[in-house]
Amino acid sequence: MRQKLIAGNWKMNGSLSANADLLSGVCAGLSQPHCEVAVCVPTPYLAQAQLALAESKLKLGAQDVSAHAAGAYTGEVSASMLLEFGVQYVIVGHSERRAYHSESDAVVAQKTLAALAAGLTPIVCVGETLEQREAGQTNDIVANQLNSVLAVISSDDVARIVVAYEPVWAIGTGKTATPSMAQEVHAFLRSQLAIKNAAAAQLVAILYGGSMKPDNAGELLGMADIDGGLIGGAALKAADFLAIIQAV
Ligand code: PGA
Repeated sequence: MRQKLIAGNWKMNGSLSANADLLSGVCAGLSQPHCEVAVCVPTPYLAQAQLALAESKLKLGAQDVSAHAAGAYTGEVSASMLLEFGVQYVIVGHSERRAYHSESDAVVAQKTLAALAAGLTPIVCVGETLEQREAGQTNDIVANQLNSVLAVISSDDVARIVVAYEPVWAIGTGKTATPSMAQEVHAFLRSQLAIKNAAAAQLVAILYGGSMKPDNAGELLGMADIDGGLIGGAALKAADFLAIIQAV
């Protein structure tokens, strides 16, 4: 059976004191989770989160990683640096990085490779804009995004990635893909994974992201190919994040 995963993406939110409250609130409500749970925190707070999560089931994630191993890359953070802080998951190719930092499919593929080489689990994000959906291009866009990653990783490594389907028009907007709209894309993404490695495709967790909240999580997570969520806004309130975990 596929491992379900609920991952919080804090984005550029938080402070030492707010994080302490949020992490202790989530840990307190998370004694025996029925799924894997992670929080992807801003880089400066990795040390704080590592300490706060030491005794908990909550796993630590980062929001980005350099494609390079080390060297003259001002401002970048390598996969081996993340590992030193107990990081297990790293988001790659989030649409905000694709849009605001011009990350191409090729760069996202190299970041995925860097994460895998270090032993991290990359959460590879794909998703179409509203314009692309309305033009009927959803499958083409997400296939291109996913296939650029699949082209560079080994077929054995397919089972080591997590995929997140995040329609750009649903992120932070309060608009959610309907469960059947999301399921359709998730099943399509799994079929793309299967071309590279049929057995691994059945094991890869495909998360939905984009305004997943306590009140819509149950329905989304009930779909056959939706194996969890990448949660932005609702991951910033312990009660909401816990309610989504409960919905699994
Ligand atoms: P949202 O963000 O839940 O606030 O829509 C999800 C994401 O961007 O990962």
